[in-house]
Amino acid sequence: MKKLVISTGAGISAESGVKTFRDTGGLWENYPVMKVASADGFRENPALVHQFYNARRDQLLSVQPNAAHLILKELENDFDVRIITQNVDNLHERAGSTNVLHLHGELMKIRSMTHPERVYELTPPDIHTSLETRDSYGDPVRPHIVFFQEDVPNFEPATQLTREADIFVVIGTSLAVYPAASLLHYTRPEVPIYYIDPKPTIVTTSNKDINYIAKKASEGVAELAEILRKNYL
Ligand code: OAD
Repeated sequence: MKKLVISTGAGISAESGVKTFRDTGGLWENYPVMKVASADGFRENPALVHQFYNARRDQLLSVQPNAAHLILKELENDFDVRIITQNVDNLHERAGSTNVLHLHGELMKIRSMTHPERVYELTPPDIHTSLETRDSYGDPVRPHIVFFQEDVPNFEPATQLTREADIFVVIGTSLAVYPAASLLHYTRPEVPIYYIDPKPTIVTTSNKDINYIAKKASEGVAELAEILRKNYL
């Protein structure tokens, strides 16, 4: 089976009703990003950060995977599909995708402030955390999210996967945040690249040919699945 590596961003979850970050009406229009999603912001006002992610979790519970997530799951019948997502939602997993690497952490997980290797899954209805929340060792916890100003521990495995790709696909990201945006530069020279986004960011620093599919994820991924089955099976 050909290895199909797919890098997804907020746009793939937009049709599920999850807001993107930088579009008009996006999350960062209403929340100061450095206050709710940075290491400095968390140090300065951790209560606000807990509140912000509690609200994000409430919202995640109210939405479902959309056609784009479901088609990516179906592609596992024909390809060795590996998803690298910048999203902190769990919609790929809920659609049934079996290989998902989260670059920016996971909304439904928290971890110990003092022992970062102690990561816990939140299970509804207990999905809210606060300054008072303690793990079973009595230690305070934080969202299992990669804040701005922090390292991206899964970037190294993501570059490795990208180097192994036979086909590389980018879906629904503005390619504004590094190092995630640089992933496509790790593809081998002969590897075809597809980029699905109604308003794709034109990649100018790459000498690679990019096949743009300027459509919403649901439509674009359906079109991609046809192209892949026709050309690469
Ligand atoms: P952005 O909000 O920067 O970009 C969203 C992209 O989705 C844009 O290019 C839109 O054109 C596209 N889009 C909108 N609707 C779409 C649809 N229906 N189908 C497909 N694409 C659509 O989101 P990201 O690029 O994911 O990090 O942002 C990257 C990171 O910035 C996030 O992971 C988050 C944020 O700060 C952290 O919080 C750590």
